[in-house]
Amino acid sequence: MSTIVSPSMLSCDFANIQRDVEMINNSQADWFHIDVMDGVFVPNISFGFPIISAIKKHATKPLDVHIMIENPDDYLTEFKNCGTDILTVHYEACRHLHRTIQAIKSLGMKAGVALNPHTPVDLLKDIIDDLDLVLIMSVNPGFGGQKFIPNAINKVKELKSLITKSKSKALIEVDGGVNIDTGRLLVEAGADALVAGSFVFGSSNPSKTIEELKQLNSTELI
Ligand code: DX5
Ligand code: ZN
Repeated sequence: MSTIVSPSMLSCDFANIQRDVEMINNSQADWFHIDVMDGVFVPNISFGFPIISAIKKHATKPLDVHIMIENPDDYLTEFKNCGTDILTVHYEACRHLHRTIQAIKSLGMKAGVALNPHTPVDLLKDIIDDLDLVLIMSVNPGFGGQKFIPNAINKVKELKSLITKSKSKALIEVDGGVNIDTGRLLVEAGADALVAGSFVFGSSNPSKTIEELKQLNSTELI
């Protein structure tokens, strides 16, 4: 399987959002990564439902929505209604994670859980079978353009072994500081999907950069 690439719209040009959505539609990217921040769970505020609906209106690929918010349970239906296909909540924001995951699935979305850099992978062992995706944060959430935390590579390896052992179907996605070098190490460690914001939108040819990330796949590396 080739690497799933999910460009982060946090780094797009918000004054030209339709243009950037169409660039992704026409590229080899697989998903749109959409970062929602509430200024409470993380020290930044990004955007909410109207922007996600606007992206959905033009997007021809699934919306991979990463919510960095407190009380995610209060907003699940609204995320569904604005066009979310995959909804990823933070482990650290969910008191009753199993209930939240079931609620996301019952609304017809795929369910993911994100882990902050300090949160150990093995905390997911009793819920891994219920998950469609695990998002390993390789920066502290809140901002694009931060430096990659190398321990994320060990976490991907641990998660890969947990998934293999439990025969879970969960995909491993990594978010933060991804470029071609960190991306290669992550794919080699077992990552299925890479999020990239500043690396894609800061490049002179975003579509080609997406293609380069897409070509990272583990069989190629053996
Ligand atoms: C950070 C967000 C990321 C962000 C990644 O909290 O979750 O998705 O956009 O940006 P880069 O790829 O620039 O590190
Ligand atoms: Zn994200």
